[in-house]
Amino acid sequence: MERIDKIVAVSLGVSRNDARSLVKKGCVTVNGETVKSISDRFDEKTAAVVCNGKNLCYSKYVYIMMNKPKGVVSASEGEKARNVVDILPDEMKRKNLFPAGRLDKDTTGFVLITDDGDFAHKILSPKNHIPKTYIATLDKPFDENVITAFKQGVQLKDALCQSAQITAVEGDFTKAEVTISQGMYHQIKRMFAKFGITVLELERIKMGALFLDKSLASGECRYMTSEEIEMIKNGI
Ligand code: URA
Repeated sequence: MERIDKIVAVSLGVSRNDARSLVKKGCVTVNGETVKSISDRFDEKTAAVVCNGKNLCYSKYVYIMMNKPKGVVSASEGEKARNVVDILPDEMKRKNLFPAGRLDKDTTGFVLITDDGDFAHKILSPKNHIPKTYIATLDKPFDENVITAFKQGVQLKDALCQSAQITAVEGDFTKAEVTISQGMYHQIKRMFAKFGITVLELERIKMGALFLDKSLASGECRYMTSEEIEMIKNGI
């Protein structure tokens, strides 16, 4: 049994507060009856939940978009440092949540946290790696050589980075938008290091076809909608 405010929040990708005000305004029905209290619980497998005439398909898994702050690791186990699951608001915490993919401790931006292992496996599997886009702030400008090399693929000591797309952000060649489709350790930092360039700041802004929600401040998160989850899957 799940609380109605949670069912509405997860299904619509809105905050618990917004879900509660929808319930309070009488916008939500379960099995045809208007829900009176935000703390009412229903069997999520059988309840037909409708909000403002829209059928809500409540899934048994959750998918959370977080704007990861610096200083937090994006691994769920084996690290002593605070991780992205630790900093979820209490109301969003539940068993088996983990980040789908790793960002360095000092990288900020889009992290997807879920308890759906199959989904995570699909988007992380080396054969399906979805494109991920980052904004990298550099200690010196990059040039045509770097653009061409990234396009061709960069050989690191231990691995070959496949073709990556790089463009300058607003004409400033010390800020680059980089899209990679693999997920190797420190990949972007090591690709630039090969050309004597240090990455000072790194922010992930997009996974698959889905941008990080700009309204999320650093450290904030929200449930993703089913359309958004599809946008990530469609990047495969
Ligand atoms: N590349 C990096 O170097 N670090 C990240 O966190 C992600 C991609």
